[in-house]
Amino acid sequence: MDANTNSNRDEWGSRVGFILAAVGSAVGLGNMWRFSYTAAEGGGAAFVFMYVLFVALIGIPVMTSEMVIGRLAQESPARAIKRLGGDMWAPLGWLFVFCGIGILSYYSVIAGWTIRLVIDAARQAVPTDTGAYFGAISVGKWSVIGHLVFMAMTISIVVGGIKKGLERASLILMPFLFLILIGLALWAATLGGSGEAYSFYLNPDFSAITPAIIGSALGQAFFSLSLGMGALMTYASYLKTKENLAQEATIISMADFGVAFVAGLVVFPIIFTFGLQEQVGASAIGTLFISLPAAFQEMGNVGAIITVAFFVMLFFGALSSAISLLEVGVTALVDNGMPRKKAAIMLGVAIALLGIPSALDTNILGAADQLIGNFLLILGGFLTTVLIGWKLLPQADAELAQGFDKPGARAAWGFIIKFLVPPVLLIVLVFTVVGPTYTAIMALFQ
Ligand code: PHE
Repeated sequence: MDANTNSNRDEWGSRVGFILAAVGSAVGLGNMWRFSYTAAEGGGAAFVFMYVLFVALIGIPVMTSEMVIGRLAQESPARAIKRLGGDMWAPLGWLFVFCGIGILSYYSVIAGWTIRLVIDAARQAVPTDTGAYFGAISVGKWSVIGHLVFMAMTISIVVGGIKKGLERASLILMPFLFLILIGLALWAATLGGSGEAYSFYLNPDFSAITPAIIGSALGQAFFSLSLGMGALMTYASYLKTKENLAQEATIISMADFGVAFVAGLVVFPIIFTFGLQEQVGASAIGTLFISLPAAFQEMGNVGAIITVAFFVMLFFGALSSAISLLEVGVTALVDNGMPRKKAAIMLGVAIALLGIPSALDTNILGAADQLIGNFLLILGGFLTTVLIGWKLLPQADAELAQGFDKPGARAAWGFIIKFLVPPVLLIVLVFTVVGPTYTAIMALFQ
């Protein structure tokens, strides 16, 4: 706590603590639940190819700029954007807070399913028909209870404050996550369908790339890297030390990509070995929860242990991401003078209530994910980069220079943020919104 500048604000204990917490924010359900189903839907390698491209060319520069603005401002994104951009830009700050609240409301529901699955797998009580099982646990009483339990845990960690809560949590959780995932990928390599799976996953057919695949790869990049809603901007606003933010953004993005990529190396061999392609096609949201336990079940007792290990890991990843989703709104309230504890509880309870419809109906959950994940995050990213690239670039560049003493590389970054990212995001937004709307309207006249 730095009492001299702003008595309400915390700060990171170490550079490693910041990186681990940022990786904790990025790595979560997005890397497994969302990545595996969007990759499967997008035809495998073609999607993965676009995803890699977007992470490298758009994700890393956008993450750098979000963190630069956060460290420059030393206050909540909502306030920073209004102060730096002027009153006209204030709605972008609200959009950030709205996206955090909206995502967490259904994210927590999915995390709740993992709790239920861990408990049932540990009791060896997951039925053979995992499709029906998923149908039962994904809606109704247990889904609501899991969601509320998860929200309570998220709130209690955020109440602990930045240094105590987040840093300690991520320090413990992250190494676990990597280890279990790598073990599972090695095991999956021994499965009979792994060869076929690797070729589906890694050998792209470029002619298969469509606007829809491009849109979902970009949305997935934003969702998985925690971009477009000020999450990493918030984390960086607690940075006092002047480290190299371009380097940090690269490390964080690579770690996030690595986890998603290895998760694919786990999921696809299972899908191909156990013939689950159809289920994957039929129920996007349930894919992971139906296919993995079904595969693990064929392995008897060992399978129960692997199911527990996998979903415990997923739960940890979800928790460290949920913390950052809640933190955006909490920081905004704290910077307006509310005590952290009150802010976290008030906002957390509101999100818990807001998520109940998603816990009762997976269609509502899917629609919310589609709207926020594939549209509002890209919109947030578009507006953020327009603001930074076209209005704040000199300030942002000077801030980035502290820790990144490479004028040439910074110029390339500025060019990308100003001229490359906004048009690409705008084109994708137009395709994902105007395209389907136009088709729908035209259909009415036929
Ligand atoms: N990146 C997180 C995940 O992949 C989700 C998230 C999105 C977190 C946006 C914060 C902001 O699970």
